[in-house]
Amino acid sequence: MGDDANITYTLETIPERKGSEKLYAVIGDPVAHSLSPQMHNAAFRALELNSRYVKIRLTPEELRAGIEQLRLKGYSGWNVTVPHKVGMFGLVESERLSPEVRLVHAVNTVLHDNGLFEGFSTDGRGWWAAVEETLLPNPGHHRILIVGAGGSGQSLALFIAYFCTVQNTTARLTLTNRSANKAHAIADLIAQRHPGTSCAVAKTSEEISHAISEADLIINTTSLGLKPDDEIPIKLPDDLSGKYVYDLIYNPAETTFLRTAKAAGAKTANGLSMLLWQGAYAFRIWHPGLSEEQKAISLAAMRCALEDATGQKLPERPAS
Ligand SMILES: NC(=O)c1ccc[n+]([C@@H]2O[C@H](COP(=O)([O-])OP(=O)(O)OC[C@H]3O[C@@H](n4cnc5c(N)ncnc54)[C@H](OP(=O)(O)O)[C@@H]3O)[C@@H](O)[C@H]2O)c1
Repeated sequence: MGDDANITYTLETIPERKGSEKLYAVIGDPVAHSLSPQMHNAAFRALELNSRYVKIRLTPEELRAGIEQLRLKGYSGWNVTVPHKVGMFGLVESERLSPEVRLVHAVNTVLHDNGLFEGFSTDGRGWWAAVEETLLPNPGHHRILIVGAGGSGQSLALFIAYFCTVQNTTARLTLTNRSANKAHAIADLIAQRHPGTSCAVAKTSEEISHAISEADLIINTTSLGLKPDDEIPIKLPDDLSGKYVYDLIYNPAETTFLRTAKAAGAKTANGLSMLLWQGAYAFRIWHPGLSEEQKAISLAAMRCALEDATGQKLPERPAS
């Protein structure tokens, strides 16, 4: 299979299938940093599948033409990353959208069947599984403060409200964001779709301090922390003992936000586990007949590939 993991293809160079192999891809812009090829190719090797996963940089202007190429070249499926998750939503047949996609209006996984595209979003479920594995079971049973109301903040807030409703649990959410209007827009959506959910917005520093003191789980969904000189997205108190803090960022492995939370006594985890689990759910969508053993083998291979690529260690069971 060689490894295409280091090659970033473009609209002009999208590879063709070799013989009877199945092809998969991640499309985005930028996409060169993506670890999805390492993760999925490791799972293909572990299950001895004649499949290959590549990364393709497509600009927003190239998205429609790129998708047409993937269709013509017979790609079996693809992942969609920034900035195409909403654009891809518009290119999937409306009757072929999973409940999560109908909820968040964004697609991160496509299954291609004879020219028809089926759209899924595995980010929410991936986040949930990641938190269960790294921090605490049933995150929806706890009071959650979501910091950030961009694409990920919105997806997570909507998914938590939806999943708690499905499980007959009342989600208790507070949202905070630099641009408070976006947090209010999400809270309004949740109020319409899941009226049983408690969803507040914290704007002032007093309201944010109060939300931190009330929360069991705090999630950073902002992009602050990607760069070494980034500010911390919200001011954290000196004592966070008994609380759980999850940061969607995994590179760097420990943002200032996570480091500060850990020093204040919180249990912390970064977004590498979410990357793993959203990928594992995508893999299962593309391979619906997997046995439990095959699921375990592919997950273990993906986990090792991510650990090798990042030098980080992923926990396998909830930290007690
Ligand atoms: N681990 C995973 O699998 C995974 C999956 C998805 C995303 N992520 C990570 O999650 C992060 C967010 O992604 P996204 O797609 O949601 O991005 P996005 O849609 O661009 O949203 C960015 C968020 O960050 C906030 N922000 C940006 N600069 C800020 C600043 N200087 N001060 C305060 N807030 C600021 C934005 O606030 P405003 O609304 O005020 O602009 C917004 O809430 C990224 O780091 C991404 O890599 C990880």
